[in-house]
Amino acid sequence: MTCSASHRYDLAREGYVNLLLPGMGRSGRSGDNRDMVQARRRFVDRGHFSRLGGVVGGLVARRIRRSRAAVPIVLDVCCGEGFFIRSMRPMVERAWFCGVDISKDAIRVAAKRTREPGIFWAVANAGRLPVASRTIDAIVVTFATPDPRECRRVLKPDGELIVAAPAPGHLRELRERIFPEVFDLEEDEGGALGGLFRSLHAERVTYACEVAGTRSVSDLLNMTPYRWRADRERVRQLLLLDGLRTTVDVAVTRWVPR
Ligand SMILES: C[S@@+](CC[C@H](N)C(=O)[O-])C[C@H]1O[C@@H](n2cnc3c(N)ncnc32)[C@H](O)[C@@H]1O
Repeated sequence: MTCSASHRYDLAREGYVNLLLPGMGRSGRSGDNRDMVQARRRFVDRGHFSRLGGVVGGLVARRIRRSRAAVPIVLDVCCGEGFFIRSMRPMVERAWFCGVDISKDAIRVAAKRTREPGIFWAVANAGRLPVASRTIDAIVVTFATPDPRECRRVLKPDGELIVAAPAPGHLRELRERIFPEVFDLEEDEGGALGGLFRSLHAERVTYACEVAGTRSVSDLLNMTPYRWRADRERVRQLLLLDGLRTTVDVAVTRWVPR
């Protein structure tokens, strides 16, 4: 594929496009690696985030019902292996979906799993979204940091940004096992978004999650950034467990452009 500036992009057999240019993480080493992507894929496939997916999908559906566009567009920024698009899709009528992630491994998995008309997958950097200004009806960012300026640029003036971020108790029991001292995670009140967006609504999604089996416990660890900082001996002990009951605690917030 070639763009109007004569840049060339790969259109992959799996049905996604790689829109990274040299110097933008094109090496494919940016973002989540293959092991992290596969760990997350297995974890979400066991249904551990289904309830959260339902809440996010419900908010997007509500926004899209109000859209006057013939074909509203939902953009999932840092979409990973595509869980949230897959779970939203049946709840949101009329819309087209676009998932972008800087990890080629993640987008390859997403595209392989969901190759349907009306769903587009692209390898791209959230800090330079390959999206025309003011074209998106709803942006979703889950477990990742939104770039306020890019989100503001691509969102329609009446569009909505929906963010799902870890709240203080998220995965507390996992953290208690692998760190000598555990503090509540800091609540992200969207400070960075505040200058460009106005907060509409916040809700907390909190539930117990039964992670069954040693494989699932290691998947949970491997899909988080904690594993890099965790105490080695504690990790070894964790990986001997045949299950773990932990808390999913997520703040879901809605924002509109100022
Ligand atoms: C914790 S995962 C969350 C994935 C997905 N949103 C979910 O909730 O299942 C964070 C994702 O952000 C992606 N990511 C990190 N930096 C990025 C960037 N600058 N641009 C696009 N994606 C990025 C990673 O590759 C990874 O897939």
